[in-house]
This record gives sequence, structure tokens and C-alpha cells, in this order.
Amino acid sequence: MSVYPFLRRLLFRLDPETSHGIGIGALRTAQVIPGATAALAGRNRVEPEALRQTLFGREFPNPVGLAAGFDKDAVAVRALPALGFGFVEVGTVTPLPQAGNPRSRLFRHPTERSLQNALGFNNGGMEAMRRRLERLHPFALPLGVNLGKNKATPPERALADYETLIRGLHDLCDYLVVNLSSPNTPGLRDLQNEAFLRSVLGLAAGITTKPVLVKIAPDLTPEQAVALSETAVAAGAAGIIATNTTVDYSLLPGAKGVGGLSGRVLREKSFEILEAVAKALFGRTVLISVGGIDSGAEAYRRLRAGASLVQIYTALIYEGPSLPRRINEELVALMERDGVKGIFEIIGAGCRSKR
Ligand SMILES: Cc1cc2nc3c(=O)[nH]c(=O)nc-3n(C[C@H](O)[C@H](O)[C@H](O)COP(=O)(O)O)c2cc1C
Repeated sequence: MSVYPFLRRLLFRLDPETSHGIGIGALRTAQVIPGATAALAGRNRVEPEALRQTLFGREFPNPVGLAAGFDKDAVAVRALPALGFGFVEVGTVTPLPQAGNPRSRLFRHPTERSLQNALGFNNGGMEAMRRRLERLHPFALPLGVNLGKNKATPPERALADYETLIRGLHDLCDYLVVNLSSPNTPGLRDLQNEAFLRSVLGLAAGITTKPVLVKIAPDLTPEQAVALSETAVAAGAAGIIATNTTVDYSLLPGAKGVGGLSGRVLREKSFEILEAVAKALFGRTVLISVGGIDSGAEAYRRLRAGASLVQIYTALIYEGPSLPRRINEELVALMERDGVKGIFEIIGAGCRSKR
């Protein structure tokens, strides 16, 4: 029986950011207690051959990843494989450390199984991230680093921020993410335009051979998302991560007018963007779906729609650390139900049949 419902009751009595700090603290502790991660891994890792795939030159033992923002400073990374993830994305990291927006800036909406955050890229900066990744490298799982500009950087210097980050971190990860979709850095989403994408991806190509992905917002229309993704892929992006949090507060009566919503209220919007982008680009790029995924059935739907990988964040807070394992087990059960032998048979199946 899971102890998480009990633990969650306690954690949910605390301010959400304090609870998050406790969760990260517990993972950090597990990293240093001999045998702790091995014991956790024994319970949580399910790695059937059927879920395995190679992408970006690395083997992903399963398609369920941790989304950016949970471990912004890569402090708990060594404990994360033990929760059953197939890959991990750290960050968003900015060139210089920054405190983020003033508190309170993280809110729960438990009835809707959603979160609202206006954190604003609080993180310890690139140098600290680099030192941590140097100690981890090479990491047991595929590792992505999500990159963002500093709040104080004016728009005309944004490109230089991304250049600094790509140069500073590309050799220590398996993929990089150009994040232009957080709603909490003023002006960031304005960089979701063709000219900026071409500049940043062209610049990246001159610096690194590592795959560079672009993370997009759910508040684009599906047509805008497709156009932007087409531009990104033409300019050399290795993949699209769809989506970040939404500022469509109409999705949640009672939502505060700040920050981005994630979790269940984001689910259909995130799916709609994935579906549109996949219809246009499936087979030409790697798609990672994120937003409101909380079960194997939902992950299966995203894979069928054209995602090669999925990521979770908010559902982890509501369902607890055994969620990656449960999603993977449910995926395997669904594949058995449908007589599917490997994950390749599912990925894009829905998208292919509609062509
Ligand atoms: C508290 C919080 C902090 C986040 N921080 C980041 C971030 O730093 N960079 C980023 O690209 N996405 C960030 N995200 C967005 C998630 O990576 C993800 O795209 C979004 O929450 C949708 O997935 P979910 O519904 O599974 O949470 C954050 C989300 C939450 C809830």
C-alpha cells in the first residue's frame, strides 16, 4: 500500500514551495544514504524491452521523463532514475543566478489536480549547474538541460544569453532545450518567432552537435504552433516539446491572474497542440508531449498521437513518486491488450491512420 496519500495530506498543509523543498530534500538525502536509491530502484524501475528506444544516439529505457522545473538546479538528479523515469530534464537554467519572482508564486488547485506557478526561473545559474553536471557525467539516463534567458537581459541581448548557455553546458548533457515558452519571464514568449528561432538554432549548430529542441507554449493557436515548429525543424531543431504551462485562466474558475497553469486543466490544450504539430511533422522530428499527463492511458494517447516521449510534473505532486512506475506498467498492459510488441508500433499510430 502506498504511503503517499498520507504524506500528501501533511505536505499539502504547507506552503507549496516549502513542500517542494521537502521533496527535493528527501531525494537529496536518498542520494547520500548507502543503498537507498538501490532500494527505491528495486521498487520503481520497470524496464521491459518493449518500452525501450534509441533517440538522439542514447537509449531511453522507457518513454516517461521528468519535465523541466522540478529539479531546476540539478541537485536531485542522481536519485531520479530510482523513481522509474526513462529520462530527466533539468533547468530552466539562466546564465546568471536569479531569485525569481517574489513569493507567493506557486499555488495548488487540488480539486482540478492542477498547479499554478509564477516562479520566474529561480535558479542558481549556469556555473553552479555546470559544476553539478560535471560530477554526474556521464549520467545513467538521457539528460536534457532546459535553457532560459535572465529576466534582466534585454530582448536584444537574449540571443547572447542562449549562446552563453549552449557553450557552457552542451558537452554535459544529451539534449538541450531552448525554452521560449515560460509565461513568467516578461517578453520571453515574444521570442517565439521565426527570426529568433532561426538565429538561435543557427547559432547552436555552429557550437554543438548535440540535439537542440524547442519548447513551445500551449497558448499559440494550433496553426501558429505548426508554423513555428516547421520553422524550428527547418532551422535545425531536433525536436519539439509541447507544451509549457498555459495563461488561459478561463480553464480554471478561481485561478489567480498570474503565472501558468499546469496539470489536468492543461491536458486537452496540450493534446490539441501535439496533435496539430504531429500531423504536420511526424516522422520528420522528435516530439515530446507534456501537459496534464497522469496515467498510462493518457501517455498511450500521446504516443499514438505522435509523441516519442512524454514528460510529467504536476501529476507527480498529486499522485506521488510511484507515478512513473504506474504509467510504465499501464503502458505495457495497454500494449499487451492491443497485441503490440514494441513502442515503435504505437508511436504515431493514430497520426498515420488519419493521413
Ligand atoms: C512549479 C513548476 C515549475 C516549472 N518550471 C519550469 C521551468 O523552469 N522550465 C520549463 O520549461 N517548464 C517549467 N514548468 C513547466 C513544466 O515543465 C511542464 O511543461 C508543464 O507543467 C506541463 O506539464 P504538467 O501538466 O505535467 O505539469 C514548470 C511547471 C511547474 C508546475
